[in-house]
Amino acid sequence: MTPEERILELRNELNKHNHNYYVLNSPEISDKEFDMLMKELEALEKEHPEHFDPLSPTQRVGSDLTKGFEHIVHERPMLSLANTYTIGEVDEWFDRVKKGLEGQSFEITGEMKYDGTSISLTYEGGRLVRAVTRGDGTQGDDVTANVKTIRSIPLVLQPGDWPEKFEIRGEILMPWKVFDELNKEREYNEEPLFANPRNAASGTLKTQDPREVSKRRLDAIFYYLLSDNLPYDTHYANMEAARTWGFKVSGEMKILHTVEEVDAYIDYWDTARKELPVATDGLVFKVNSLRQQLNLGYTAKSPRWAVAFKFNPENACTKLRFVSFETGRMGIVTPVANLDPVLLSGTIVKRASLHNADIMKELDIHENDWLYVEKGGEIIPKITGVDTSRRESGSKPIEFVSRCPVCDAPLVNKEGDAAWICPNKYGCRPQITGRIEHFCARRMMNIDGVGEETAELLYDKGLVKTSADLYDLTKDQLSILDRFGDKSAERILNGLEASKQVPFERVVYALSIPNVGETNAKRVAKSVKSMERMMAMSIEELQAIPDVGPIMAQGIYDYLRDPINIENIRRLSEAGLQMQLSEEKMLPEGTALEGKSIVISGTFAHHSREEYKELIEANGGKNVGSISKKTSFVLAGENMGPAKYEKCQKLGIPLVSESEFLKMIGQ
Ligand code: IVH
Repeated sequence: MTPEERILELRNELNKHNHNYYVLNSPEISDKEFDMLMKELEALEKEHPEHFDPLSPTQRVGSDLTKGFEHIVHERPMLSLANTYTIGEVDEWFDRVKKGLEGQSFEITGEMKYDGTSISLTYEGGRLVRAVTRGDGTQGDDVTANVKTIRSIPLVLQPGDWPEKFEIRGEILMPWKVFDELNKEREYNEEPLFANPRNAASGTLKTQDPREVSKRRLDAIFYYLLSDNLPYDTHYANMEAARTWGFKVSGEMKILHTVEEVDAYIDYWDTARKELPVATDGLVFKVNSLRQQLNLGYTAKSPRWAVAFKFNPENACTKLRFVSFETGRMGIVTPVANLDPVLLSGTIVKRASLHNADIMKELDIHENDWLYVEKGGEIIPKITGVDTSRRESGSKPIEFVSRCPVCDAPLVNKEGDAAWICPNKYGCRPQITGRIEHFCARRMMNIDGVGEETAELLYDKGLVKTSADLYDLTKDQLSILDRFGDKSAERILNGLEASKQVPFERVVYALSIPNVGETNAKRVAKSVKSMERMMAMSIEELQAIPDVGPIMAQGIYDYLRDPINIENIRRLSEAGLQMQLSEEKMLPEGTALEGKSIVISGTFAHHSREEYKELIEANGGKNVGSISKKTSFVLAGENMGPAKYEKCQKLGIPLVSESEFLKMIGQ
């Protein structure tokens, strides 16, 4: 077998296994076997760049950077559907269809209305050529590079009766499970939460870095096929065909004949949809025959042959057991309503945050009140009101606490701020253990083995109060702790040792400085360059750092004037932590690339693509995603994509090799 034959064979194999895993949910081989096939293909493709294919399964990781999306005019406008909210309105639509078809018999398909972000894919010769968002319905954004990373979307179709050219529309979705995990991570990093999976999916799709998209585990379900030569004359048959070509098509689709069957379908899915792994906000009914669809036609905005039925947002009324007050890592005290458990959108709700004193006051919650809880597309349940008609006579309004529920310190609050804070930073258990846990977490110092429980244990045993105490721990101390063997003790000590190489920007993030999350920590570290310098800076100097506002500047300034923090940082520095930027990041920022617009392509020997991006920016240049007339040059590594190469030739854009580039910036 020639290498080319083996490459093609591997691509087919991997496409099939991808489909089995991501679309059919029934893998035939183990993850390990899959990885081995993938590795073999990667190696062969590297050895034989002449057989590069942008749609190879190896290209799913999203290697290409896009900057700004190109607008594409839809060949057929993407219309929306007329909405209905009651069974009565759907029945009226059914009658209108019946009238419009003048006595012909007809079928209706019932299917889920998926609540994601709509996408239009174009395939030619069985290969994905373009993915475009709905946009304003007439034109949308070209998000092909991002969409290619979604594993359940076939890049190359399974053999079948697909038309030479067709468009397929569907919904890009973030499954509930992925959404929950993503929000947990964002909450931890103090990044704004996504309100619902729809926002998360559309936000992700608009991300400029396909590698990030690839990590977000999006899914896609398809519901509409368009082509001049469709294989079948019903919607249902065409969608079933699309399923055999490799697309994920709604498994809940059903052919219905009478208005009673339509009503029963609504009845059934109104509750059953809560068990689905993805968000839905209603149902869609379509006339099945394409000829009859054509007969019925369109109004100015939407097809007459289809209608959407929207579910009511999920809500319930349940009894308040009590309000607990919880102190977090930064000392903020949050009121939480503890409820009699209720089932909402497929999950049991027992607790709902009341956020802060102002929101609690506005709701005017009394003891034992009956509360309305809502959870529409939102995973975080929300208390929307009180059923005052069920209020017990004489029940007292619930007051916000005036002392910390854990350490009893009187709470303080800043003028105009709704948050009440326990000021006992160094004596209040959840604040201390929260800081230790934060310090050790993966994105900070990455000390494996120290999570919430261990942080609490280390504090309760009197071993660790501040992050610097961690570096004084001995194996003997750790091994005698409950639940701890030699192995776990060693793991922690190794983690502590390794953390001495963690770069300065993550040390800044690990310190729990108020308002300094991951992104801000990076910015601040890059600008101040060393802890020593940061400690000497005035508020004005801190505020001059890009994106650092007065509140953050004050927070950093105060933190670094606190004697306990000063001593802790001194000990961390003595323990050997990185207290300044690494040498290469320290290099004076140059102007060698001032005004230049540079595309990065291929793979490199000396730095990662991400590092080259930083180097371009540090030297005054701009890194852009796609080649155009305005591109100054392409930083070309090995295995540059042939399409890019061709475009450069056509537009006369120079290629600069890795070593030439490093010379340009004086490295
Ligand atoms: S059919 C011309 N089917 O709902 C008809 N749309 O307001 C094209 N949607 O933009 C749409 N699930 O994003 C159709 N099973 C389904 C759907 C669906 C969700 C979305 C779609 C569209 C919007 C219509």
